Amino acid sequence: MKILFYDAKTYDKTSFDEALHNFPDLEVDYTKTDLDSRTAALAHGFDAVCGFVSSDIGAQTLSILHEKGVRLILLRCAGFNNVDLDKAKEYGIRVMRVPGYSPEAVAEHAMALALACNRRLYKAYNKVRENDFSLNGLMGFNFYQKTAGIIGTGKIGAAMCRICHGFGMNVIAYDVYENPSLKDFVTYVSLDELLAKSDLISLHCPLMDSTYHLINIETIKKMKDGVILVNTSRGALVKTNDLVEGIRMHKFAGVGLDVYEEETKNVFEDRSDEILEHSTTARLLSFPNVMITSHQGFFTKEALSAIAETTLQNAEVYLSGKESPNDVK
Ligand code: NAI
Repeated sequence: MKILFYDAKTYDKTSFDEALHNFPDLEVDYTKTDLDSRTAALAHGFDAVCGFVSSDIGAQTLSILHEKGVRLILLRCAGFNNVDLDKAKEYGIRVMRVPGYSPEAVAEHAMALALACNRRLYKAYNKVRENDFSLNGLMGFNFYQKTAGIIGTGKIGAAMCRICHGFGMNVIAYDVYENPSLKDFVTYVSLDELLAKSDLISLHCPLMDSTYHLINIETIKKMKDGVILVNTSRGALVKTNDLVEGIRMHKFAGVGLDVYEEETKNVFEDRSDEILEHSTTARLLSFPNVMITSHQGFFTKEALSAIAETTLQNAEVYLSGKESPNDVK
């Protein structure tokens, strides 16, 4: 089976080439370009394509992939909000993903953002580099015995609950389903109660119609003053303009984002003044209590090899004709 791997980075090649030794039926070609309607035609002659969160796998892309004979989309990520599933079904293209490669990788990054914001580590680092050893502007608060509110307690949210519990925090959570593995140390509450009680709020639910702009000015107003908000899930869970308003209202001690609404628009690619003037992300970055990382939550050695292994296993399952829990329907 021939797979065209889009948006290939050096680290992707390393982890996939390593894993490929165990999959003699599979052949992978790499291209640096990402998958969208302009690049889908490159898949001519391939049975499958491998895409990522940043790929645009909408109706137009799918129509071209279908025309080129592609039967399988291998997402090397958990989220699938960038795929038009109805269209994929219409064309008989199977979509498979990697639902949980290393939940701890993302949860640990969420806690890293929370701590970095709380203790202003980015500011402290820069100050000391400038030979300024004063503590002005660096005061944080203890996480110990404070309340962590986790929204979404699937694989990553559960890992975040365990980390917060380890910090001696009181852990409360909101989810549409309760996770039984957390029953000994997590209390499920309503969203409103979570917003009102939490000193640290971390988002771990997927992006769907029901969660789009879950954090908006109304929900922000319900939060405690001095709260820390962390989003490592999907940018559009947070309405950025409302977040800016919330920051101006001094609602937040810190905001840590690994994902942001403009992520797929590549606003920082050419960094022109005109684009940056209108960029909500650039506005966020102008605040001293905001820290943004570039969707690196998943980026650990363990996670990359698990992603490669599961993606290639998905291709093998496809070849066997069997169903899989990794099918996206
Ligand atoms: P999961 O599917 O195991 O858990 C998601 C949880 O959210 C489930 O328990 C579900 O019931 C809950 N949920 C659904 N609708 C909800 C709602 N309206 N309100 C509250 N909770 C709701 O997913 P997993 O593996 O924990 O991943 C979570 C998200 O993390 C992914 O959807 C993805 O967007 C993001 N992610 C980010 C990465 C990064 O590098 N920053 C890497 C991997 C995933």
